[in-house]
Amino acid sequence: MTFVNNNIFPVHHEILSREEKEKLLHQRAKVIWFTGLSGAGKTTLAKYLEEDLWKRGFLTQILDGDNVRSGINNNLGFSPDDRLENIRRIAEVSRLFLDCGIITINCFISPTEKLRDLAREIIGEKDFIEIFVNAPIGVCEERDVKGLYSRARRGEIKEFTGITAPFDAPIKFDMEIQTDLLSIEESVKKLLTLVLPSIQYS
Ligand code: ADX
Repeated sequence: MTFVNNNIFPVHHEILSREEKEKLLHQRAKVIWFTGLSGAGKTTLAKYLEEDLWKRGFLTQILDGDNVRSGINNNLGFSPDDRLENIRRIAEVSRLFLDCGIITINCFISPTEKLRDLAREIIGEKDFIEIFVNAPIGVCEERDVKGLYSRARRGEIKEFTGITAPFDAPIKFDMEIQTDLLSIEESVKKLLTLVLPSIQYS
């Protein structure tokens, strides 16, 4: 690991461990990383998944693009460099939650393999569950929940993912959810088959 400042002394080994916190919470921490176009349904699925897990007694935290970009990342835009820094910070924040024993549900377009690889590398392969929330761009554009696609088509938003900036379909995902084919309930049910065994404390 490289630090800009050399006079840094991490104390990871001296503080209460993740294992002790997972034991307290009776759960295993994981990062459930939703990738997909704007409007594909990442935030909606995260909301329903979180509620289901909460009812089952799991402690989770949703990290969502629009929320995070209103706070810790409010100095970042949508250039390739800014998207990289966006994902780097989110991945580091997710690691803090992992160390606290908390399951994070991350909703970020994370449009390229480079970005998703960076997240996977920072978080660690064994704690990273990649979910491709997939709906064809035509469907996302039709939904246009935030009115951003029509604004992008009118040229009012630069570098808009899927229109004037790339979205590379994921290739290393653990599960794909096709939100144009499945209902929310069916999607959550499918997600739980993967998520529950990985967060169960034993
Ligand atoms: S990412 O590409 O860096 O992963 P992130 O998930 O944080 O993106 O933010 C995406 C959200 O920002 C979208 O859901 C949308 O509401 C908003 N947004 C604003 N401008 C853009 C843009 N140019 N491209 C994509 N999303 C944008």
